[in-house]
Amino acid sequence: MQKQQLLYKGKAKTVYETDEPDYLILHFRDDTSAFNGERVEQLGRKGQVNNRFNAFIMQKLAEAGIETHFERQLSDDEVLVKRLTMIPVECVVRNFAAGSLVRRLGLEEGMPLTPPTFELFYKDDGLGDPMVNESLSISLGWATQEQLDTMREITFKVNDVLKGLFDEGGLMLVDFKLEFGVFQDRIVLGDEFSPDGCRIWDKETKKKLDKDRFRQSLGDVIESYEEVARRIGVPLA
Ligand code: TMP
Repeated sequence: MQKQQLLYKGKAKTVYETDEPDYLILHFRDDTSAFNGERVEQLGRKGQVNNRFNAFIMQKLAEAGIETHFERQLSDDEVLVKRLTMIPVECVVRNFAAGSLVRRLGLEEGMPLTPPTFELFYKDDGLGDPMVNESLSISLGWATQEQLDTMREITFKVNDVLKGLFDEGGLMLVDFKLEFGVFQDRIVLGDEFSPDGCRIWDKETKKKLDKDRFRQSLGDVIESYEEVARRIGVPLA
């Protein structure tokens, strides 16, 4: 598979076309951003750690019968994926209250959400990824009801698989974000799963081991990503 022209440069990944129209190459960069791209820093090893982390999780999800865009890891910081037509809606599941939910409703951080809750956000940095709902997503032509039903169902299934995996490593999966696209008329999980797009706490100490360490300037960002990786069995270099 030959890497061809640059298609899109996101905040943490660059997307390249390949000589096969149905496949793309994602390059995980060391760039780390917060507050919709207002703060960007280079964190050494992040591209490699997130690429390995994502490959491991995508393979676990495939084993659980969840279709993803992941094809194979190409190098330390590159992965081959199916080319999806992305749906501009981010799917968030929350097992415990944190982040924007705590700010929005004044809840206590860490409060269990039983059953877990599901939210949608419109993917637009310029607007700060505002919260939306299914009705609006359909009215604006972003997705059909059937597609949204499938996205919600897959997101909860991912939660069930990953909650168990993190729990075995002594970790709490607090919340996470997924993005989906369409491949040959099917809804398929795209983008990435890494500590950049989820919250993971130590079960005993409640220490934050995810991108909140960067957002809140807590230090040891990549060291924490590596600790999570080791505890769930991700093979690091
Ligand atoms: P929030 O608390 O900021 O709404 O985020 C909920 C979870 O989803 C958290 O793990 C971060 C992740 N997320 C992203 O990674 N990118 C996004 O654009 C959004 C809205 C959430």
